[in-house]
Amino acid sequence: MTLLTVWPDTGPGTVVLRTADPAEIAVELKRLGVRYEQWPVLPGVTAANALDAYRDRVERVTGTEGYVLVDAMEMTPSDDPAWRETAAGSRARFLAEHTHDDDEDRFFARGAGVFYLHVQGRVHAVLCEAGDLLSVPANTTHWFDMGTRPDYVSIRFFHDDEGWVGNFTGSDIARSFPTFDQLMAGHRAS
Ligand SMILES: [Fe+2]
Repeated sequence: MTLLTVWPDTGPGTVVLRTADPAEIAVELKRLGVRYEQWPVLPGVTAANALDAYRDRVERVTGTEGYVLVDAMEMTPSDDPAWRETAAGSRARFLAEHTHDDDEDRFFARGAGVFYLHVQGRVHAVLCEAGDLLSVPANTTHWFDMGTRPDYVSIRFFHDDEGWVGNFTGSDIARSFPTFDQLMAGHRAS
């Protein structure tokens, strides 16, 4: 289930809002210009079959939003040291605050990830789980944490074939807020 946690951007000491109510989350995200939808969770989805499994919905999004490239990717935990190194590199890539010139639009078919949206003087952590589609508008200051043991299948939508190029702000704000691992632990316990 999705979890939204909002703090002032001065620090995570005060929780402004914490909710797992999809309707409330949708209202909050809409105020930020973020598109959020929930799609059915299908069993056995992998990177290889995700685009087929969600074809109708993917075509609706690409048609409505004008995306020209869609792909599916997967991170499946392994104890192989090489995988752990790859996972750490993937996690590190967008763990610091940045923007993109394109929307960052992603559907989680399996697993989870946290988008931290730094807008309007607040940090909005959106813990996305299977069935969640989130679109972070171009130029929104944000960062993304997939955790120390990344585990997800996601469908990604692009307006060009360059992928998401990060324009890093140089801020270390991300280090002050709870990580994916910490948010997940609290989410599972509640
Ligand atoms: Fe990003």
